[in-house]
Amino acid sequence: MSDQTIETLFAEDRRYPPSPEFAAQANATADIYDVPFEDFWAGEGRKRVTWFEPFTSLLEWELPYAKWYGGGKINVTYNCLDRHVEAGLGDRVAYYYEGEPVGERAAITYSQLLEEVVKAANGLKALGVGKGTPVGIYMGMGPGLPVAMLACARLGAPHTVVFGGFSAEALADRLNDMRCEVLLTQDESYRRGQIVPLKRNADEALVSCPGVMKVVVGQRTRADVPMVEGRDLTWNELVEGQSTDAGSCPCEPMDSEDLLYLLYTSGTTAKPKGIVHTTAGYLVGVATTHSMIFDLKPETDVYWCAADIGWVTGHSYIVYGPLCNAATSVLYEGVPDFPDKDRWWDLVERYKVTILYTAPTAIRAHMKWGPEHAAKHDLSSLRLLGTVGEPINPEAWMWYREHIGLDRTPIVDTWWQTETGMVLITPLPGVTTTKPGSATKPFPGIEAAVVDDRGEEVGPGGGGYLVLKKPWPAMLRGIYGDDARYRSTYWERFSGMYFAGDGARIDEDGDFWLLGRVDDVMNVSGHRISTIEVESALVDHPSVAEAAVCGRNDALTGQAIVAFVTLMRGEEGSVERLEELRNHVAVKIGPIAKPANIVFTPELPKTRSGKIMRRLLRDVAEDRPLGDTTTLADPAVVAEIADRAVAQPADE
Ligand code: PRX
Repeated sequence: MSDQTIETLFAEDRRYPPSPEFAAQANATADIYDVPFEDFWAGEGRKRVTWFEPFTSLLEWELPYAKWYGGGKINVTYNCLDRHVEAGLGDRVAYYYEGEPVGERAAITYSQLLEEVVKAANGLKALGVGKGTPVGIYMGMGPGLPVAMLACARLGAPHTVVFGGFSAEALADRLNDMRCEVLLTQDESYRRGQIVPLKRNADEALVSCPGVMKVVVGQRTRADVPMVEGRDLTWNELVEGQSTDAGSCPCEPMDSEDLLYLLYTSGTTAKPKGIVHTTAGYLVGVATTHSMIFDLKPETDVYWCAADIGWVTGHSYIVYGPLCNAATSVLYEGVPDFPDKDRWWDLVERYKVTILYTAPTAIRAHMKWGPEHAAKHDLSSLRLLGTVGEPINPEAWMWYREHIGLDRTPIVDTWWQTETGMVLITPLPGVTTTKPGSATKPFPGIEAAVVDDRGEEVGPGGGGYLVLKKPWPAMLRGIYGDDARYRSTYWERFSGMYFAGDGARIDEDGDFWLLGRVDDVMNVSGHRISTIEVESALVDHPSVAEAAVCGRNDALTGQAIVAFVTLMRGEEGSVERLEELRNHVAVKIGPIAKPANIVFTPELPKTRSGKIMRRLLRDVAEDRPLGDTTTLADPAVVAEIADRAVAQPADE
């Protein structure tokens, strides 16, 4: 973080206590902070979900592995669908689905969703999918995606959803790491009016995924995509003739700690980490937080989390949390500015959205486009706003409150991670006095702290590392197949504590201010991308000899990727080459990882032992005065890089 950001935060003295009207009707009241840890999570475990067999032990904690709700039998899909229909809520809308092309919409009730899931689960069963069969899902943001996830969960088949914006290579890595046997994908999807060729990417990926035996292809655009005889079948073929009766495909009773899904996330090495989430604790964690933080009233609220299901936010707060709570949600396929910049506000008005959850990067995009787009629509249905994904600048927070919340809705700035599964630091909207830019307090039952290099807690005002001191129900249960990496990434830096990789400080009121990542992980538009992954993608190009990547602050995306590239001898750093390398990264990882700038340099700044000095590259990228250069092998190099960086205009 730059000093500037910290100064801005220090200067922040605006306070927003909850209104008495909001507080009076809020789901969560101040006294829940006083409930002892065990009582709190045991109580939520009994209240939020329906068990086939009750749990007998709350928590077994053998650092760094937790087991929650031991002895219980449960099924996630049963909790998300069947029990609501059995309770007479079948006619409630689960999702108002809105396609990106204007006018494509559908209201899908809990009964209809259940029927779709049962049909799909029966079809998958016929393909041989059962408890423990790993399934990959690579689909766009349509109702088919939650149907696919819930069909897997019904059968006890763990899934990994791969974000539709990832490339064929990224898909192949994930399918292979999880040893997926089946892939659920679709012909194409829409994004900003363009076609995303999902099946073509999948075909390319599958060349190197011999373990995937069956591919089911949903028809979104109905494009004529090639089908491989014996391997591929359409979604219609999968479900044709299958019963929609829940009794025809009972929910598999799962142990609390059975694997629900893996979700891959970036770390400080090139290989993405398969974050392990299991069944009962995850479901209790997301349902509890969803109800309390968003103050969900399932009978009356229309809730919209405008994330993509391919990221953890969508898993926890579009699919599993809201459905477990019998919520009515909006599910939108596309981007905020298609066909116009008021698309979101049109949706809020049409569906009378009451709760909106999005990311600071999206808020900043709306700020840039101007408040007139929101002003065209009636946003008076909104009663609560949320943000997630990166630190929110106080200006963006204020803009969100003023222009979207019409100066009256509470804002919940929620801190969490793929690894945490559920929100951990957040206001409770009827309780907490919020401050623009602060995620405020640990959720009830969560113990967080800020420590210095030696693991000692720093006092009020001091900056340090964010740690968690107690396990929580939705926490990761490891990195798939890599115990050593799990321990070293999260548990070895500070003994006995979970190290989140984020900087933070706590103010005099005990409120947390998140200061961004402290490792070599960038946060671009709320998504974590590791520097090493982008470097590896660049070095993969035949003309590149060496590459170093870092993030620089960016007004819109939080951080933008800057790459310093040394080409092979005889290669030229032309504009065409620059474009070629950016596209190469898009192919290797996905468009989100494309560097915004590439600086060609004859050499990278290195220490005498040959380590690239990223600190200096960050100074160059931020156009800051250079820090200490005395340990450089060749101090002239960095001055030359700085000159070149200034000469090269930023892309996008
Ligand atoms: O750096 C923090 C930032 O996003 C990281 C987690 O990224 P990911 O696993 O992709 O999950 C994003 C959605 C949960 C964190 O380590 N982050 C997330 N929320 C916030 C945040 N930083 C500051 N404030 C937040 N509210």
